[in-house]
Amino acid sequence: MIDFSIWQDPETGEPLSFNRARRGFENPRTGQLYPADSRGILHFCGAEDAVGPDAASTRFYDRFAPFYEGGQKLYYSLYGGERKARNDYLQYLHIHPGDRVLEVSVGTGANIRCLPPEADYYGIDLSAGQIEQCFLQKQRRRLPLHLCQANAEALPFRDESFDAVFHVGGINLFSDREAAIREMVRVARPGAPLLIADETERVARRYQRLPFFGTPFRGREEIVPPVDLLPPNVTDVALADVRRGSLYCLTFCKAL
Ligand SMILES: C[S@@+](CC[C@H](N)C(=O)[O-])C[C@H]1O[C@@H](n2cnc3c(N)ncnc32)[C@H](O)[C@@H]1O
Repeated sequence: MIDFSIWQDPETGEPLSFNRARRGFENPRTGQLYPADSRGILHFCGAEDAVGPDAASTRFYDRFAPFYEGGQKLYYSLYGGERKARNDYLQYLHIHPGDRVLEVSVGTGANIRCLPPEADYYGIDLSAGQIEQCFLQKQRRRLPLHLCQANAEALPFRDESFDAVFHVGGINLFSDREAAIREMVRVARPGAPLLIADETERVARRYQRLPFFGTPFRGREEIVPPVDLLPPNVTDVALADVRRGSLYCLTFCKAL
């Protein structure tokens, strides 16, 4: 069941309330509406709101979205299958039945289906194409997932709304990585586990030479696991090297 009490205006930080007549979440002070579409997907921003690297990556993912699932399956077949390969990092995220969990940049929902189904998942992504594919996966696999189109750098959730928060595979190319991490920590409850995993510089250098797939990796800054961007209110920081140095996996907890 979607929780109506956890939403906030990503632009002003004010609480939102659900307006049944207008079919969406509304800021009662400004009247700004964030609509739910006919599938129940909430829209807090569109591709046109993205700037800098976010805009380029959204253009890429919108085009690639219909092929993302197939591409991932092929890629992960090199690592013993998708479920096993995703567990290389998901093993660090301890989810309990009944937890409310947020995946920032949910993509097509591939991580969600590898996690315990007894939790309540929320997924945000900036790419309408990825959200569209994720919705199809959610229907097909009956995933316990609420979807919205939003930017990781301004989350539409109130402080301390989630029991666990994670992100996989996009942060290296975000326009503002520090803001995204600050937001992930803000919406986590005190004591909640957080996880951030993405490709290492070594792998990105290989990818950037590929036609089409290499596009988002060209012209980027050198990739460094974002340990220095963590805010002071986190504890138990650990950095793991996953899959023989292909991925970094940064785990930490929000301080109590
Ligand atoms: C490599 S995919 C990873 C998807 C999924 N997490 C997975 O592991 O399969 C990266 C995702 O990040 C999303 N993304 C990129 N910039 C974003 C931003 N600023 N806010 C939210 N999502 C973003 C892309 O649309 C894309 O779906």
